Amino acid sequence: MPVPHDVANLALSNQGVRRIEWAAREMPVLRLIRERFGREKPLNGIRMACCLHVTSETANLALALRDGGADVRICASNPLSTQDDVAAALVHEYGISVFAICGEDNDTYYRHIHQALEHGPQLTMDDGADVVATLHKDRRDLLPGVVGGTEETTTGVIRLKAMAKDGALGYPIVAINESDTKHLFDNRYGTGQSTIDGIIRATNVLLAGKNIVVAGYGWCGRGVASRARGLGAQVIVTEIDPVKALEAVMDGFRVMPMAEAATVGDFFITLTGDVNVVDRSHLEVMKDGAIMANSGHFDAEINLKALTAMSEGRRRVREHVEEFRIADGRKLYLLGEGRLVNLAAAEGHPAAVMDMSFANQALGAEWIANNHHTLKNEVYELPDEVDDQIARLKLHAMGVKIDYLTDEQRRYLTSWQEGT
Ligand code: ADE
Repeated sequence: MPVPHDVANLALSNQGVRRIEWAAREMPVLRLIRERFGREKPLNGIRMACCLHVTSETANLALALRDGGADVRICASNPLSTQDDVAAALVHEYGISVFAICGEDNDTYYRHIHQALEHGPQLTMDDGADVVATLHKDRRDLLPGVVGGTEETTTGVIRLKAMAKDGALGYPIVAINESDTKHLFDNRYGTGQSTIDGIIRATNVLLAGKNIVVAGYGWCGRGVASRARGLGAQVIVTEIDPVKALEAVMDGFRVMPMAEAATVGDFFITLTGDVNVVDRSHLEVMKDGAIMANSGHFDAEINLKALTAMSEGRRRVREHVEEFRIADGRKLYLLGEGRLVNLAAAEGHPAAVMDMSFANQALGAEWIANNHHTLKNEVYELPDEVDDQIARLKLHAMGVKIDYLTDEQRRYLTSWQEGT
């Protein structure tokens, strides 16, 4: 009997298995955690609802949780990011419940979240806080049974902190994004490479010599800007934060308001976590042929309503490229429906960075399962020791050795009596 599921096609399972195994090669830290989880069963019998991008990397996380004893249900955290072959393999080969179909409409997306909640989770795992939001809005009856949760991404952490501030959060959450071994690597190198990967796969346009406007200079924006420069693009950064703007200038990028950048950009990539960063006024002055992509969590960063209203016609010109014919004759292009371009048009972050993000997720689930009795309904960070442990395991897997403090150096660093 297959486990409860709703996936596109179970016949894709073999291909999914090969893909999951390929990702596993680059996930040595998660592999060690999975082996320990298999021996120690730290999540024994715990029901988990996981709302994550259903990718080959996520499959490896799910296997670690399963081997740790958890009863895992997974739904998608984005309608376009599911790898249908991976979803099929999880159900058919590994016996894990998945509710996710690539290209699902909004109703199906939320139905799948509800299905993932149907076994009454004790732990939630989110990427964008949609499970937490659905539990708090529509399934409050399940809240008393939930002891804790984890959250993967910046946008989700912002939502959850807002809930905690309002006293609306029903259980404690670990903000995985706040770990150094998450955001310094996944957000920067993962988003950097996979966003460019998505744009190239979608368009096959040469980036060298193009004006690429990067909106937002957080860790994700920094990653994309540096990779785009590496490919020979002229990178322009837009920011609202003066410190980040200054950092972008000193990193050698041109910085200007979006109103100005809009007139010169060939590509626009949004990574701010906010709405209408590319707004109607910007769309009005863009060059004919400008290409827009979003790599922030929600499809709210480019004003799609305005774009649609300004257009006389639209058509799909390549698999992930939509052409909008503006009334004044210009053509503007949107990639991946304005959703996360790295997951819509490519395969998301490479496994080597998800190794660290999901090591944090697995250890975060274990930490909250062990510590929830002592926690308030707030947003917590994982202890620094966990970050250090993940970094050391990753270095070990990469064959990189580092120095250790001598006793003399340790004494020096902890003494207030040393001076000139
Ligand atoms: N978020 C970004 N890239 C991802 C990936 N490859 N798998 C799961 N979640 C992701």
